[in-house]
Amino acid sequence: MDAPMTIDPRWKRMLTGDRPTGALHLGHYVGSLKMRLDLQGKLECFVLIADLHVLTTRLERLDEVGENIREVVLDYLSVGIEPEKTTIYLQSLVPEVLELYWLLMPLVGVPRAQRIPTLKEQVRDLQLETASMALLAYPVLQAADILMVKGDVVPVSKDQASHVELTREIARRFNNLYRPLFPEPDSPIGPLLVGTDGQAKASKSIGNVIFLSDDAETVSRKVTSMYTDPKRIHADVPGRVEGNPVFTYHDAFNDDRAEVDELRERYRKGKVGDVEVKQRLAAAINRFLDPIRERRAAFAAKHGLVDEIIREGSRRAQEEARRTLAEAREAMGLTYFRDATSVEVGG
Ligand code: TRP
Repeated sequence: MDAPMTIDPRWKRMLTGDRPTGALHLGHYVGSLKMRLDLQGKLECFVLIADLHVLTTRLERLDEVGENIREVVLDYLSVGIEPEKTTIYLQSLVPEVLELYWLLMPLVGVPRAQRIPTLKEQVRDLQLETASMALLAYPVLQAADILMVKGDVVPVSKDQASHVELTREIARRFNNLYRPLFPEPDSPIGPLLVGTDGQAKASKSIGNVIFLSDDAETVSRKVTSMYTDPKRIHADVPGRVEGNPVFTYHDAFNDDRAEVDELRERYRKGKVGDVEVKQRLAAAINRFLDPIRERRAAFAAKHGLVDEIIREGSRRAQEEARRTLAEAREAMGLTYFRDATSVEVGG
């Protein structure tokens, strides 16, 4: 496992989040959950579940999203995100964000939004006929998420970096036009985990992932069919470890460094079979996942706990949201008829 991330002493508040599209996997762990755990307890931490973002790419009823939300929260708890230290909240329970979103919208030109790389990727990957207004403006909603709590550090995976870049631009424009209200957030980028099939990215939609909630048998099965050095037809052929996903996973998850070094040596010399390397990898991943599984089972057994965590976190986030929104309105001169539009500022 890589060393903990370096913490910039200027950082006071972290905000990041996930779209509730389903269970989280090892790619999420390496790419973002680990950074959150490194920061937890050291600064104020907010993690949002971005359910309103789901509307950018689907029009069907959202009913089953509720199930996904609960799964994601269980995943958070199981890796060690603690609601006492990290405010976990649901975007749609803090609708203030939509008002801020609208206040920020005039600060972004249409061509600027069209240049964001994820837009073309989504249209292509989901084979959409056209991008909706919501999809085009989605990075502005993400900026509102971040600025709403004045996050100054937003750990994300590489594909999200362009959204935080836009957030910095929006903050700068707002601060110049009205008054300095928003920090320009840093965005440390988590590493991308290769898929079990050797594709560049571990992704649920490709189906090349190991979930945090997979049981030991599923892990073994998935590891057994992992892509490895294709030129190695026999165990005595010298193998390539560079760019070999089996070794990438060993490096990421095997806590027994000596074992990994030894396997690497033997593999290069053609002195170990892929079967053994994979068996040891499955064992290592299961060692890594065991405490996560235990915590998950313990939290899942407490009926109503997850819902309570979401409600309480959203209440806390809403206090921040109301405060920031009142400040933004004030800064913009949106204060006529104050009584009629009065925003209760909590805390
Ligand atoms: N767009 C992110 C994703 O698809 C989720 C997200 C929504 C987010 N709002 C955010 C991430 C704010 C960081 C900060 O994964």
